[in-house]
Formats: sequence, structure tokens, C-alpha cells
Amino acid sequence: MSQLKPIEHTLFEKKISFDEFDEIVNPPRETVDFDHIVNTVISRRQALKVVSLAGISTGLFAFMQTTPLSINSAQAKTTLLDFKEVSANTLDTITVPENFKWDVVVSWGDPLWSKGKEFDHKTAGTPESQLLSFGDNNDGMFIFEHKGKTILAVNNEYVNNDLLHYANVSKKPENENDIKKNKYAHGVSIVEIENKSGKWKIVKDSIYNRKITPDTDIEITGPARGHMLMGTDADLRGQKVKGTFNNCASGKTPWGTYLTCEENFNGYFMSSDPNEKISPEFKRYGINAKDWGYGWGKYDDRFDFSKVPNEPNRHGYVVEIDPTKPDSMPKKRTALGRFKHENAEVVLTKDNHVVVYLGDDERGEFVYKFIADTKYDPKKDNSNILENGTLYAGKFNDDGSGSWLILDEKSTGMKKAEICIHTRQAASKVGATTMDRPEWIASHPYKAEVYVALTNNSNRGKSDAMPINAANPRADNKYGQIVRWHPDNSDHMKDTFKWDIFLLAGNPKVHTNNNAGSKNVTVDNMFNSPDGIGFDSRGGLWIETDGNYSNKGDFEGQGNNSMLYADPQTGKVKRFLVGPVGCEITGLCFSPDKKTMFVGIQHPGEDGTKSHFPGEQNSIPRSSVIAISKKDNQAFL
Ligand code: FEO
Ligand code: CA
Ligand code: CA
Repeated sequence: MSQLKPIEHTLFEKKISFDEFDEIVNPPRETVDFDHIVNTVISRRQALKVVSLAGISTGLFAFMQTTPLSINSAQAKTTLLDFKEVSANTLDTITVPENFKWDVVVSWGDPLWSKGKEFDHKTAGTPESQLLSFGDNNDGMFIFEHKGKTILAVNNEYVNNDLLHYANVSKKPENENDIKKNKYAHGVSIVEIENKSGKWKIVKDSIYNRKITPDTDIEITGPARGHMLMGTDADLRGQKVKGTFNNCASGKTPWGTYLTCEENFNGYFMSSDPNEKISPEFKRYGINAKDWGYGWGKYDDRFDFSKVPNEPNRHGYVVEIDPTKPDSMPKKRTALGRFKHENAEVVLTKDNHVVVYLGDDERGEFVYKFIADTKYDPKKDNSNILENGTLYAGKFNDDGSGSWLILDEKSTGMKKAEICIHTRQAASKVGATTMDRPEWIASHPYKAEVYVALTNNSNRGKSDAMPINAANPRADNKYGQIVRWHPDNSDHMKDTFKWDIFLLAGNPKVHTNNNAGSKNVTVDNMFNSPDGIGFDSRGGLWIETDGNYSNKGDFEGQGNNSMLYADPQTGKVKRFLVGPVGCEITGLCFSPDKKTMFVGIQHPGEDGTKSHFPGEQNSIPRSSVIAISKKDNQAFL
């Protein structure tokens, strides 16, 4: 979900982004936490010293080790992908390096079954057609191989009202039917794909095709299941919830399930009570009497918390889905905490412990680690490993050391279920470090080294609640940074680590101070707002951006949102892809034969920017999954 643009009053009517809107309705915390107390005594100069060390492109900290974790280093290819980098541009198309090609696999509104209608550019569809079609704003995704079939599971994060309800004069949902259509464009689309004559296409009517929407039944599992804060009149026992929505990034487990992560769930709730008093618990999650322009609460009481007070507590989780079992009920994994989840990066340690790294994408929120109680055993049923475990929140000290602070009854004074429901409050209590909007987290495939994209933070340094610190070293952080950590003893089970800044994004064309970025950022590869990150099998780090694409002022020369490729060893970064006008790049996975990289193009033409991607003139711009391969069809990963 993007981050720029004019700040006005409402999300959709006035062209305001989710994040800017959230900043208005959910200002930075005034709570003074341990992080603040520590950091107020650290000078800005001291903090920047740590950054400048980390910013040297050829040097890793001495403590950075390269011991492989769970995979033999012999498996690692010695060279990263080589290509001629592309320049920034503002074209309304996809730009990839010479020798590479791209195709559209599936776009918003493409029917997944033959009884569905093709996308209608005059109406942008009906509730019936949308329920049978690929959802809007595709984000995180993964491929699953099963019985010789290739199944793609894709999040459909949110909708652009002015495109979805294009046919309405108001350009927003106006009645119950519109709300149904709006809901059915959200959730998760699961679709079989196949490669025919060198092109990946969806397989209509596959038994694996499935839509999971805000109305689909989902089982509540883990510590919060059955807690009084989870019960509603429709589900007194707090065990089953309808729906998942605002599914942003995702994860994949070693046992072959898909993890879809609920992010800005708060924006869908409202109260029809004019005297509504918002509780501190709701405030911390940005839940307000006014929703973000969806209007679901007008027709579905679940989204009106004056009528169903606990419903907001039932969202903001990671949901586990088995794409190979179309009839299976998805499971909300409350053990992984409730916050504005970005992805869920699952790591298997060498002795088969399951560790999951998680980010909470909001200004000044935290990075988390989860360790499952049960180990992975390839000979057993692993389907409920994520049901129980322990959560930790990250503390990034200014000297380059760090620790995972356990969230338990002793450290927080909260019961286990409460920790899983009010996870942000628990992490504040233990003094976790406020971060610059943690987006995706990626674990290196061949060594114990983990990267997090901190996308930007316009509030950094603006209040005592969010002072600069070494891991988040710039006030009014416009560009973002990528921080990485190395668990002590190269063991993800350890609760201590060393960290550095892998990359400080910036604009060396416009700035000469720290806004120029770290030394591995140049006028040729510069970008802002890293969001999606992920490793390929060569050990190269892909970086997708969701930033300011104005190409002006602080962002002059950076063009449209793009995708870059980084060498973790040298810090060298090259631009691989530029997206069309007004889009963000998000979602990343690979075909099993390593010949294709699937990439998400989300919200082309957002905020009235002129895009018709991927169609012709006069077509409605549509979010799409694209397939990138070499022109000679050889494996490149
Ligand atoms: Fe939906 Fe934080 O990106
Ligand atoms: Ca983002
Ligand atoms: Ca994101």
C-alpha cells in the first residue's frame, strides 16, 4: 500500500493514501517507553556514526559471520544474477533489462472460472463477477507445487474505490451491492497456473481455484481462541470468524501452507454511535469512529463496533491456508500476534525449530520474532505448528548489538491471550525499539542473516515518543533503509544478535547530507521506500519499492516505483525493473524450474495518475501479476 500524496480529509474521496490517512487518524504515541529513555541520551551524531560504518558498501562489520544455517553452503551458487541495469523512468509500462521479457499472468477482474464474465471496462464488474474473479491490488504471493500442478496463492490487499466503483458518479460504494463487490475484491485469490508455449496463464475451473474473502469462515486458533475479547453474538465462544481483509504481504511454510498477513484492518471499522468513546486499546491500533471510506459497517454490523464491540479484536492476524486443499478452512494464528502485519518470514533452524520473523508496518512500531513450541518433523503432520509459541520484540541498541525481548506474563504483566490480542502494548511494555515502518523481512537462504525493509517515517524525530536512534537514524525519514541482523552463534533461537544498516536509501542527486543515502546508493540505482524484499536461490536480495513516484524535488531522478537487486556481500545494488505509472511493486516468487520470476504490479494509475496498464488507451488500469523470464527461456535463478 503506497505512502505518498496530498493530505486531505478522507481516504478515497480526497485521494489520500492509506498511510498518510493513518498518520492523521493515528498520530504517534505519546507514551514514553524504555526506547525513548535510552535514546534521549544518545546524540544524533553518535547515531549517525553507527550508520556511516554500516554504510560502507564493501565492508561488513567484523561480527558478521557467514556460517550457513540450515542449508549447506555448497548449495549456494557462487555468482549472483548478472544483467545490464535499467535506468529510472516514468513510462506507463514495465521496463526490464535487455535479454529479459515480461507477460501478464492475471489481472484484477480476470475470471477464475468459465462461468465468470470477462472484466468489463465500462462497469468494473458486479458482485457476482467479482466473486468469480481475481481480486484487486495483488500483494504478497507464493507458488505451491502439488500433484504436478502449479498453484499460485495471492493476496488482494485492498481496492481503489474510484476504479472499482468507476461507474458510480460518486466513485465510491453507494449501496449493499457495491459493498459486496468491494468485499469480494479483497482477500486471497488461489489459482492454478500453467506454462503454455512459454507463457504462464491461469487454468480456469481448476479444482484448486478458490476465493477467500472478508465473508469466508475462518477458525480462530492459538492463545486468543475463546478469550472473552474474541467473542461476539454470532460467535459467543470466540472460535470462528468471518473473513480476512487487507491482506498485505505473505509467507510460506516448510510444510507447504500459505500465510496471509492482515495489515491495515483498522480502516474497515466504524461506529454509528455519535457518542462513541474510543478505548485506548482501539486507539493504539488506529480504530476510529470513521472508517477509511469502505462503508462496510453501513450494511454489515460486524464492521460497526458500536454493535459488535469485539469484532476488531478478531482481525490483524496471520492466517494460514492450505492451497492444496480447496475445502480446508483457513486458520487465524493468534500466537503470531495482532498488529498491522507485513510478511511472515519462516526460518527452519538446523535442528528444525520453526522461527518466524514479523514486521508491524506503522511509524514507530516494532519488529517481532516468534518461536513455535513444536518442532518441524517432515515425517509428521505439521499443520498446527503455528498454533502455539512465544513472541519476542526487537531491541536494536545503538552500539550494533540487539536482543529479542520476550513477551510473557512476567515481562508484560499481561496474560498470554492478551499479549496475542494487544501485542503492540505488550511490546511497548518491554521497551522494544520503535522502527521506521517495518515492511517485509527476508532471511538469507545460506547463512543466518536477516534483512528488514524500513520503508520511511515522516514522524521520526518529531516527538519525544519517536526520537532518532541508530537503526532509524534520520529525522523525517523520506527514503527508508534496510537493516539486517545476524543472530549470535548464527542461531535463530538465540535471543541476542548484532545488526547493521545494509543500505540507507536516499537521493545523492539532490542531497549531500545523510539524505544522499549510504555509499552503495548512487544516482543510477537510487530509490525510495523499500517495501517487498526477498532472496532468490543464488542468495541475491530483491528489493521492491512502494514510494514517492513524483520524480520531483526530493525524489527527482528516481522515476516510477522499481525493483532492484542487491549483493548482500558487497552491498552493490542494480535496478532490474521499473513499473508503470502510479504503481507499487510488490509480491515476489519463482517458478520451480527457476525460469520465471513472478512479480506484482499493484495499483497502477493510483490517485488519478494516468495509467492504462496493462491494457490499451481508455482501459481501466488493473493490478496484475507479471511473469519475467529470459528471452532465451533459460533458467536464470
Ligand atoms: Fe501493505 Fe505495509 O504494505
Ligand atoms: Ca508500503
Ligand atoms: Ca508492503
